[in-house]
Amino acid sequence: TRHLLGIKDINRNDIELIFETADNFKDVINRPIKRVPSLRDITIANIFFENSTRTKLSFELAEKRLSADVVNFAASSSSVSKGETLIDTVNNILAMKVDMVVMRHPYAGAGQFLSRHIKAQIVNAGDGAHEHPTQALLDAFSIRQKLGDVAGKKVVIVGDILHSRVAISNILCLQKLGAEVMVCGPTTLIPKHIESLGVKVEHNLIKALNWCDVANMLRIQLERQDIKYFPSLREYAMMYGLNKQILDNLDKEIVIMHPGPINRGVEITSDVADSKQSIILEQVENGVAVRMAVLYLLAAQND
Ligand code: CP
Repeated sequence: TRHLLGIKDINRNDIELIFETADNFKDVINRPIKRVPSLRDITIANIFFENSTRTKLSFELAEKRLSADVVNFAASSSSVSKGETLIDTVNNILAMKVDMVVMRHPYAGAGQFLSRHIKAQIVNAGDGAHEHPTQALLDAFSIRQKLGDVAGKKVVIVGDILHSRVAISNILCLQKLGAEVMVCGPTTLIPKHIESLGVKVEHNLIKALNWCDVANMLRIQLERQDIKYFPSLREYAMMYGLNKQILDNLDKEIVIMHPGPINRGVEITSDVADSKQSIILEQVENGVAVRMAVLYLLAAQND
């Protein structure tokens, strides 16, 4: 594919190629000189219509470590506030000879829509509740690094599955790599008919954690909920919050993941987030190498 809009558009071989390429870039960024010249003729615009810490900085570092020229656009400080449309905004940026666009947008399908109207390659950095493909890739890459392989592993995704692009991209990516996936949360936050994707559903946190090798703890996405949230954050923390006492009483030692940002004391307590079973900061570290791999492979396709 010319773009990376979602995990749904790529297959197991594509994902494994991304991982092998990311292995090489991980070696590169652990050297004293972290930069390679691979994208020195490419200009990339990071276009963010929604807030971000990890994804934005991770893409920017990945681009700089590949020697690309980089420009950053944040909708909040742009002429979008004067009424400029998405297509006009992006076409004006592209008129400055930009080759590739990394875009985060609050609306599902924004990248797909844009791909029909612009010439540049697009990488989806999160579109509404639809997909966040590079997050799923870095998550699966981190499981592979920690457990040796993703195939055959049992992964539970806990929390607000209904509003989560991370959950959907993770389900697709993990299944393509041969993992078993379960989702866990209150009925109000699990999409109806999600079993049709081939995932197990469990509403009891302890049962879900005792089933899995890896637990990916998601945040409640209050920004995507237009009705009063049930359960409340306090109720959610009591029923689905992962604390050290629960972790220490499980049948086996599991790996703890979180895509960030963490709401400490809601979906996860600090003693779990900062425990030796947590790979949360390894996920962030791996994000740069995985994004370097994605950008490098997409640019190579355009050649
Ligand atoms: N995981 C993630 O997408 O974090 P940001 O929203 O900070 O980019």
